[in-house]
Amino acid sequence: MRGIIAFILRLLRPAIYPMERHLIRLDEESVDPDPIKQFQRLFNEAVRAKFYLAESMALATASKDGTPSVRMVLLKQFDSRGFVFYTNYSSRKAKELADNPRATLLFHWPEMHCQVRVDGTVEKISAEESDRYFSSRQRDSQIGAIASPQSDVISRDELDRSFEELKRAYAGKEIPRPAHWGGYRLKPSCLEFWQGRAARLHDRIVYELQTDGHWTIKRLAP
Ligand SMILES: Cc1cc2nc3c(=O)[nH]c(=O)nc-3n(C[C@H](O)[C@H](O)[C@H](O)COP(=O)(O)O)c2cc1C
Repeated sequence: MRGIIAFILRLLRPAIYPMERHLIRLDEESVDPDPIKQFQRLFNEAVRAKFYLAESMALATASKDGTPSVRMVLLKQFDSRGFVFYTNYSSRKAKELADNPRATLLFHWPEMHCQVRVDGTVEKISAEESDRYFSSRQRDSQIGAIASPQSDVISRDELDRSFEELKRAYAGKEIPRPAHWGGYRLKPSCLEFWQGRAARLHDRIVYELQTDGHWTIKRLAP
């Protein structure tokens, strides 16, 4: 019986969660002075509530001439050094990042009426870190990473054929990380936490990294 009630509550949670969250405030005094710890609080909450793809984030980049582009990627790790995601080093985003390392991440957890924007500079993580993560992936994902020349024009047949050929070639063998695939870390310089509140008087708390390494905290008008 308890199990059934818990199951029903879990089903209803997305509907009731925003109401709960309306009671939550962000203010300059109560947020953590460290924006990564503040992010951790929210991220933990989103993961604990089992929000679908809570770790997904939009990654905005821009080309040399300032043309923007955006796509979803998955957050695989974060700490005081920054936010890590993995991708193809020959993709459109990678080419844009090579020309212009400034990028922005955006998290949106609608059930929590919450958005977090992270501006910063992106650099490749070490080959060792990428190797470690690549070796932890499912074999099919490893083969997929090798088979797909991400962001190039391709036919479905070509893609499937390449996957099957690689699967045969690597049967029973360890799959090494291809040089064209690995991680990036966005080192943040500014984080904005947005919390939905009644009457559209939302909270917007911004952290800005200063040259001496400390973070200032300000409120922006919603
Ligand atoms: C929820 C979601 C998560 C994704 N995660 C990743 C990811 O972690 N890495 C990645 O390379 N592409 C990921 N993709 C695909 C990208 O959005 C994108 O199509 C791909 O990286 C090519 O982007 P680009 O041509 O702008 O470089 C994801 C897509 C979705 C919808």
